Amino acid sequence: MLAGCSVLAQVQATPVPTPRPPSAAPRLALTPAPNVPGDPNHGRELFLARGCGGCHTLYGVEGATGVAGPNLTNVTLRPTIAGNTIPNTPENLARWIMDPPSLKPGTAMPSLGLSQQEAQDVAAFLSSLPYNPPP
Ligand code: HEC
Repeated sequence: MLAGCSVLAQVQATPVPTPRPPSAAPRLALTPAPNVPGDPNHGRELFLARGCGGCHTLYGVEGATGVAGPNLTNVTLRPTIAGNTIPNTPENLARWIMDPPSLKPGTAMPSLGLSQQEAQDVAAFLSSLPYNPPP
């Protein structure tokens, strides 16, 4: 019998810890943007849960690699949204997220059924991005 066999058996018997899926990794609390209503941390959860990342790339957010819509990285630093048509204020951003066609009829971004509060939270999340650069 080979000398290493029992050692090997021991190694094989050691349970391998199951890695946590990336979505279960703890997320750091976000610093809110000054003077923007809403809860950026809840907005981040909604952004992930409602499939925004399927159409939009957002740097530092796992799975947000879509290219159907504009890249949303630091979107609030741009003066306008939706093809230079709409002034980029926290209020307009929330309205847009709740019901894009109400601001721009015929737009390719559909309404995703968010409530006013939810849209405000997602707007707060997007507004907080410049204050929370990814590590
Ligand atoms: C089916 C694809 C799709 C989904 C899902 C989607 N969007 Fe969009 N989004 C678009 C498109 C396309 C545009 C560009 C619309 C235009 O300019 O008329 C856009 C534009 C935007 C803009 C304006 C960006 C800019 O610079 O003009 C924001 C903000 C935005 N989306 C946020 C979101 C959020 C938040 C979600 C999730 C709740 C989301 N989107 C889900 C397709 C999508």
